[in-house]
Amino acid sequence: AEFFSYFWKSVCRSPLGMSRGQILDEDISASSQWSDSTAAKYGRLDCEEGDGAWCPEIAGEPENMNEFLQIDLRSLHFITLVGTQGRHAGGIGNEFAQTYKIKYSRDGSRWISWRNRQGKEVIEGNRNAYDIVLKDLEPPIIARFVRFMPVIDHSMNVCMRVELYGCEWLDGLVSYNSPLGQQMTLNGHHIYLNDSVYDGAMGYSMTEGLGQLTDGMCGLDDFTHSHVYNVWPGYDYVGWTNESFLSGYVEIMFEFDRTRNFTTMKVHCNNMFSRRVKTFQKVVCYFRSELDWEATPISFSPVMDDVNPSARFVTVSLYNHMASAIKCQYYFSDIWMMFSEITFQSDTAMYNTTLAPPKTGPPIRDDPTHKVDDSNTRILIGCLVAIIFILVVIIVIILWRQVWQKMLEKVSRRMLDDELTASLSIQSETFTYNNNNSPSSVSSEQESNSTYERIFPLGPDYQEPSRLVRKLPEFSQTSEDTGDVQEGVPHYAEADIVNLQGVTGGNTYAVPALTMDLLSGKDVAVEEFPRKLLTFKEKLGEGQFGEVHLCEAEGMQDFMDEDFSFDVIENQTVLVAVKMLRADANKNARNDFLKEIKIMSRLKGPNIIRLLAVCMSSDPLCMITEYMENGDLNQFLSRHEPEGMIALLSNAPTVSYSNLHHMASQIASGMKYLSSLNFVHRDLATRNCLVGKNYTIKIADFGMSRNLYSGDYYRIQGRAVLPIRWMSWESILLGKFTTSSDVWAFGVTLWEMLTFCKEQPYSQLSDEQVIENTGEFFRDQRRQIYLPQPPMCPDPVYKLMLSCWNRNTKERPSFQEIHQTLLDLD
Ligand SMILES: *[C@@H]1O[C@H](CO)[C@@H](O)[C@H](O)[C@H]1NC(C)=O
Ligand SMILES: *[C@@H]1O[C@H](CO)[C@@H](O)[C@H](O)[C@H]1NC(C)=O
Ligand SMILES: *[C@@H]1O[C@H](CO)[C@@H](O)[C@H](O)[C@H]1NC(C)=O
Repeated sequence: AEFFSYFWKSVCRSPLGMSRGQILDEDISASSQWSDSTAAKYGRLDCEEGDGAWCPEIAGEPENMNEFLQIDLRSLHFITLVGTQGRHAGGIGNEFAQTYKIKYSRDGSRWISWRNRQGKEVIEGNRNAYDIVLKDLEPPIIARFVRFMPVIDHSMNVCMRVELYGCEWLDGLVSYNSPLGQQMTLNGHHIYLNDSVYDGAMGYSMTEGLGQLTDGMCGLDDFTHSHVYNVWPGYDYVGWTNESFLSGYVEIMFEFDRTRNFTTMKVHCNNMFSRRVKTFQKVVCYFRSELDWEATPISFSPVMDDVNPSARFVTVSLYNHMASAIKCQYYFSDIWMMFSEITFQSDTAMYNTTLAPPKTGPPIRDDPTHKVDDSNTRILIGCLVAIIFILVVIIVIILWRQVWQKMLEKVSRRMLDDELTASLSIQSETFTYNNNNSPSSVSSEQESNSTYERIFPLGPDYQEPSRLVRKLPEFSQTSEDTGDVQEGVPHYAEADIVNLQGVTGGNTYAVPALTMDLLSGKDVAVEEFPRKLLTFKEKLGEGQFGEVHLCEAEGMQDFMDEDFSFDVIENQTVLVAVKMLRADANKNARNDFLKEIKIMSRLKGPNIIRLLAVCMSSDPLCMITEYMENGDLNQFLSRHEPEGMIALLSNAPTVSYSNLHHMASQIASGMKYLSSLNFVHRDLATRNCLVGKNYTIKIADFGMSRNLYSGDYYRIQGRAVLPIRWMSWESILLGKFTTSSDVWAFGVTLWEMLTFCKEQPYSQLSDEQVIENTGEFFRDQRRQIYLPQPPMCPDPVYKLMLSCWNRNTKERPSFQEIHQTLLDLD
């Protein structure tokens, strides 16, 4: 909730170019000017050109004066902050605006007066001629044109220098039309679910505006509260009741700036089912690309969640439909439906920008004296072509290095698609520890060489695979000849890729050949559990090859060895997670399942989930692992609040900072154990940590099979899924999974914990933008975006997170160090 807007505030606030000049003089205009030397173009913050500021010509009665300084940003922008300054002119000037108002427009014709969340239009401006005063815009503005309107009285002359801060509005949403939000009566109190900041027309319905649904602020889990100070209950949400919609749905139409290629829509919904509010049960969307609505809509039914009352983003895939308008019908699943935010992810359509219709009529700004005849036009075009050609050559030369970098990145991405897909889809059903324990077959190794060299002929950063394979300890054990036992931890995941690249044909499940002892089961020290003693309770997840169930098991204590500290009373049932392989799973899936059992059976750490028993005598094959009574850490934390005001007001259960810290230390300790065994987890996140009594934590891995978290994974070409928001840059771009990339994921996990899992990491970035951001980490030109410091996060903890996200893997701390740092911070 809060953290969402926190994100905008920390990231989307770059100066848009008044002071630095990216906004051109011709895009700055004004209602009037005192003199040529105080024209609009001199109204740039922190600049001293001309007479040092824009000053309007003040004539007539101040009351009817509507002087303004106007900026055209050329495209829609999300504006979060404004800065103003007076005219100083090296000490000569002393004019400034004590108060001002802002108007904005998206199309240049309809102008809207900005008001803050309490409805106030006037903004406090400057106190002197030289200091810059910055004001946060709450709500932020989405506009192309902005006007600063000084409030003018008799007492003094007014001059202004200004700047806008924000970022480009990539959604491209220009307006939404929707039925009016309604009013709920709850225990005699009114909850106003109207669109509090809608800037369009409000008659019987809302038309041609933007508002609450695009203001970058998500509602709290409890819709009666708001983190905005001094507003009415229900402020954050727009809500409707099914009593007024006999059709059973609410229809909202979205208009965009141009035809776009849509990937997803994210709808932030309340789900306080105890108050009869739920996410929509179905959505049907229609697309309009040219003038007509397409006949076939898409439809999507999210999984209803009756367990977790948190507000959440529901992601709807729009399957790359091309449209300039989208009309969606959201179906009620209970009496109330409430939204606080709707965002769209799209690529802008190419043809719209390149195939603009040729302009006819008078060229150059309607000025009749500038008419040119036909032959001149031809000469002009010839010159232009020549100039463009020269420019292109120059640009090519200048940008050679960047192009080269981009190519590398592209190649890496292709690898991500082709090889990593294979590598990761293997894990989609299995625990993602590495299979470093298998001598790879010679033929696959040879084939992989060529692929590897094709992709990475580049230098010392990348290792030749055959050497890598030799470097693996278990490989060197089997072939005693290699004397060069290497320094440092080998990159197990690279070993995976090496093996996988040898695979030809469509078998994505081909993994390094399993060792015979595994298949014969001789190595697996786990006992068979009688299937009939398992009682099904709940499905935790499902994937292509199987399901994970939460079950109660009787008599499990007989299956636990002595060193196992599991306080079970004799003959009581215990909760266990049962991972089952479908009976019809293919041979490779079965092999992976066996391999996973083998790996799991070797892991015995106090902070690692234990494999308790298996059912192998008949199909379906099962593995039984511990489960912890408080479920996974993500759900656990989202049910809780930090100790403080919000918790006091909402009566929510709390987790103290010291317990949070205790849990983080346990995760670090569990990871320290895994890394000591050279296991790479690859999917560390709060969703994969389980919470027991007294805040004990154990690290598990449910793979990517749980519907609840499907939004955390990025699907490549409909095949593999990757937890990209938790992945290090080198895992995404180069397919390297190492203990250092686990360290990166630990940083993200820590961040999730300190935000109480109220928000997905980088929730404001689309998956594609997250991958682009990864490219920025790779290029390292200070354009990468880091997760912001959560409000309750102490500086040293944030410093620890940042060190986990160090570009250089060698500079990231080890889990040993992380664990120690956390203990020292206690
Ligand atoms: C929404 O409802 C509140 C409470 O009645 C009211 O003060 C406010 O003006 C309404 N806002 C709009 C935009 O209608
Ligand atoms: C939309 O984007 C997708 C993925 O970028 C692409 O495959 C598809 O061809 C695009 N559709 C159109 C009509 O351009
Ligand atoms: C509204 O939803 C409730 C619960 O789903 C249902 O019982 C009721 O009949 C619905 N009312 C209308 C008018 O559809």
